Amino acid sequence: MKAAVVGAGLMGSGIAQTCAQAGFEVVNIDTFPSAIDKAKANLEALFARKVTKGSMTEEKKEEILGRLTYSGSFEDVKGAAIVIEAVPEKIEIKKDTFRKVDEAADADTLIVSNTSGLSISEIASVTNRPDKVMGVHFFYPAPVMKLVELVRGLVTSNETYEKVKEFAGQIGKTTVDAPEYPGFMVNRILVPMQNEAAFMVMEGSRPEDVDNAMKLGCNHPMGPIELTDFVGIDTMLATMTGLYNGFHDSKYRPCPLLETMVKAGHLGKKTGQGFYKYDEKGNKIS
Ligand SMILES: NC(=O)c1ccc[n+]([C@@H]2O[C@H](COP(=O)([O-])OP(=O)(O)OC[C@H]3O[C@@H](n4cnc5c(N)ncnc54)[C@H](O)[C@@H]3O)[C@@H](O)[C@H]2O)c1
Repeated sequence: MKAAVVGAGLMGSGIAQTCAQAGFEVVNIDTFPSAIDKAKANLEALFARKVTKGSMTEEKKEEILGRLTYSGSFEDVKGAAIVIEAVPEKIEIKKDTFRKVDEAADADTLIVSNTSGLSISEIASVTNRPDKVMGVHFFYPAPVMKLVELVRGLVTSNETYEKVKEFAGQIGKTTVDAPEYPGFMVNRILVPMQNEAAFMVMEGSRPEDVDNAMKLGCNHPMGPIELTDFVGIDTMLATMTGLYNGFHDSKYRPCPLLETMVKAGHLGKKTGQGFYKYDEKGNKIS
């Protein structure tokens, strides 16, 4: 069975790898040749390390890589049973991609989006097959994380949902049904927790106390403040603002400290300064 993945960035390349490892013939499409070169080089390096360590045989590596091809043309979605879109989180780019995939794909191909929070119904509306469109939200890194959220649009058919759920199982993922509301399921629970943690720091709690409270008191592998620094304060604030604007509910009010930090350019690990300080290699120094 053939699957196509559109977008060869952080998520798309991992999703393509996941599908190829599960036995699918995969084409990974990206309009930027440099993205394809990077995805290819990263995967080859990753598999080479696995072979050196003995966790993958040379034959297995060749077998998986042999199922994965790369392309710059949307025409190559032809013959795919499912197309998974993982292009940037901008509604106009998503719509443009769905229009092109819809035009090139076979009539019975399912087209799913890995969007983190855009409306599936809106994305589906630009196609001639809105009943065959839905959301399949993977988590980073896609080959490792076991969960995918299944998000039905307003007119996604039961048949599409069942087939996509079966596909998710075939690539080794566990699914949850998430509503088509901001944050879907995981982020709607997780991000307000990080926001509340930021409120506590704003009120005077030490970041390390907040992190230790959740790591040692709830067995979280990473504290909410560390996690916010890790994903980027701007990204976390954007998700929280999306919840606030989407639900029109004050319980999702973004923490003002986050807004100030973003204005100051303190975006977390990626800028070397967030709630904590980091060195050039990204190690926490204070
Ligand atoms: N990064 C995460 O942790 C994460 C987790 C879950 C979901 N997502 C979602 O996955 C999607 C992709 O995110 P990402 O982090 O992989 O982004 P990314 O920027 O790493 O990758 C996007 C890729 O799309 C390519 N691209 C841009 N325009 C294109 C077009 N018109 N046609 C084809 N390819 C195009 C780019 O060259 C790039 O390789 C977004 O919707 C994001 O919200 C991201």
